[in-house]
Amino acid sequence: MSSEVVEDEISSFFESSPPLKNMDGIIKKLNRFIKLNSSSRGENHQSDWREEDRVCVTSGGTTVPLEQRCVRYIDNFSSGNRGAASTDSCITFGSCETSCYGPPSLADGRLLKLPFSTIYEYLQMLRLIATALKDVGSCSMFYLAAAVSDFYVPWESMTEHKIESGSGPLDIRLAQVPKMLSILRSNWAPNAFCISFKLETDSKILIEKATKALQKYKVHAVVASELSTRKEEVVVVSSSGNVVVRRDCDKPDESIVEYNLIRLIVDRHSTYIKESHS
Ligand code: PMT
Repeated sequence: MSSEVVEDEISSFFESSPPLKNMDGIIKKLNRFIKLNSSSRGENHQSDWREEDRVCVTSGGTTVPLEQRCVRYIDNFSSGNRGAASTDSCITFGSCETSCYGPPSLADGRLLKLPFSTIYEYLQMLRLIATALKDVGSCSMFYLAAAVSDFYVPWESMTEHKIESGSGPLDIRLAQVPKMLSILRSNWAPNAFCISFKLETDSKILIEKATKALQKYKVHAVVASELSTRKEEVVVVSSSGNVVVRRDCDKPDESIVEYNLIRLIVDRHSTYIKESHS
C-alpha cells in the first residue's frame, strides 16, 4: 500500500473518530507536565528533564465499542502488567523517570497517567503526546506496549443505541484500524526512539512477524513475546540482531522480565541519543 493511501486512511480514521472527552483538560495536563519537567538544569533540579528521561509508555488493551452509547464492546488482550512493570523499572534505573500513559502506580510530578479505554481515545492521545513531546526535544522514547485493536466499527456506521438481541445472530463488519507506527515514525515523532511490541500465540511465526514489523515501520526495536511465556522471556529484535531477555528468579530485582528488558532498552536509548548528537 502506498504511503499516500496509508495517510488517507489515517486522516479519515481521525476525522471520523468521536472527539476525545475532556480534550482541553488532557492538553492542559500534558502541557503542565511538560513545563514542570522542562526547567533548565540547576534552576530546579527536581524538575530537570534529560532527554533520556522522556518516555511515553503505552499499556493495556483498547476496546472497540459496538454501539455509540456503548453497552457492548470487543476487547484486546492485555492485563497492563508489562507497561506498569516497565515504568517501575524505568524509575528504578533512574534514567527515565517519566511515563505518559497507562496504569502505573508511581506519581510525584514526574509521572503523568492518562487513562484510555477505546481505540479512538488511545490513538488520539498517542498523537497528542507525540506531537507535544516533539516540540520540547527530539529524542524521547516511545515504548508501545499497549495491545491495540486491529479491527473496529467505524463511528459513522455504528448504531447509536444498544443492539437489539431479539433478532437472531449478529453480523458485524469490522474495518481495519490503520497502523499508526508509520506516521508516528515519519511525522509525529521522527527523531524519537521507538520500541514497538509483537505478541503471538504461535511461537513459530513470532520472530518472522517481529522482523517484518521492524523493517516495515522502521522502529528501533520490536519486543517479541509469545502469550504463554511472556512473563518469562521476550526477544528484542533489532537491526543489530536478536537478543533473548529472561527473568532470573534467583535475583530479586531480575525476577520480572521487564527489569532486564528496560535495562537493555534504556542503554540502547542512551546510545541512540549520543549518536544523534554526534
Ligand atoms: O499487558 P500484559 O498482560 O503484561 O501483556 C503485555 C503484551 C504481551 C500485551 C505486550 O507486551 C505486547 O506485546 N503488546 C503488543 C501486542 C501486539 O501484538 O499488538 P498489536 O499487534 O496490536 O500492535 C503491534 C504494534 O503496533 C504495537 O507496538 C502497537 O503499538 C502498534 N500499533 C498497533 C495497532 C495500530 N493501529 N497502530 C499501531 O501503531
